[in-house]
Amino acid sequence: MTLNELLAGSSATVAFTGAGISTESGIPDFRSPGGVWTRYDPRDFTFARYVESEEVRTRAWAMRREFWASDPQPNPAHLALARLEARGRLLGVVTQNIDGLHQAAGSRTVIELHGRSREVMCIGASPRTGTPDGCGFSAPTSWAFERVDAGEADPRCPTCAGIVKSATVSFGQNLHPGLLDRAADLLGQADLVLAIGSSMQVYPAAGLPMIAVERGVPLVICNAEPTPLDDVATLTVDGKAGEVLSAAVDAVLGGATATPRPRSWGDPRRRRRPSPHRRASPGP
Ligand code: APR
Repeated sequence: MTLNELLAGSSATVAFTGAGISTESGIPDFRSPGGVWTRYDPRDFTFARYVESEEVRTRAWAMRREFWASDPQPNPAHLALARLEARGRLLGVVTQNIDGLHQAAGSRTVIELHGRSREVMCIGASPRTGTPDGCGFSAPTSWAFERVDAGEADPRCPTCAGIVKSATVSFGQNLHPGLLDRAADLLGQADLVLAIGSSMQVYPAAGLPMIAVERGVPLVICNAEPTPLDDVATLTVDGKAGEVLSAAVDAVLGGATATPRPRSWGDPRRRRRPSPHRRASPGP
């Protein structure tokens, strides 16, 4: 069966996305040539190293700055998934991405397994391995960039002087159990799974599509290179996510997936007051 046929026959699609869906927005993925892990050492991005080393935290703020400087915008792949959801054909997106582009494209049910880079949080002064232990302070990432720009290379929590980290999940950090449950529940309802732009190498996330496959639900993998799950996929599409998805959704829904008008959605460089409330830390 073709992707168009599978999409046309589905009323409960779930998308599982990775960094490859955002490369056409100018955000490098991790493991392709030129990807993040070819330019930064992933061993520096473990939770433990971030807690123990001020130098690692300083480098991490510089990398985040580079990420946001490009002001990334949703691309046709993000928009195609949002169109499917708006027409009641897609239950939601389970994403490994932290860039917020699915929400910026209009997707409403988005489960961010690895957190979100638009927000920072206090993780405490010396949290136990893998578990943030902060006071509850959180703020838009712009709060931290303002301090870095003012010369504070390693911004500290204004409430308890604890370490501040983006609200993303680092290697060695526990995923929020509630998120995994929500993702598993969504995949338990799917009648089609689209895995888009992921090398399918990082667990527990990469194991989630199997919840649907083991129920006999078709899995379509759209990726620029082979993945370890190709053997269990109903269909693999070797192509660029933006072109493949927008063509298929346009064919099934009619019309054309519009290209997004650039706007600084959620740009953390925009000056916004930090959250005046001490929100409960989102937990590990
Ligand atoms: N269209 C389709 N596939 C693409 C495109 C594109 N335009 N661009 C890149 N790809 C593919 C690459 O070939 C690669 O196989 O997307 C995949 C991205 O894989 P990774 O870089 O490994 O990213 P991801 O699978 O999301 O990584 C999972 O690893 O480092 C951690 O926390 C990080 O969430 C991330 C996790």
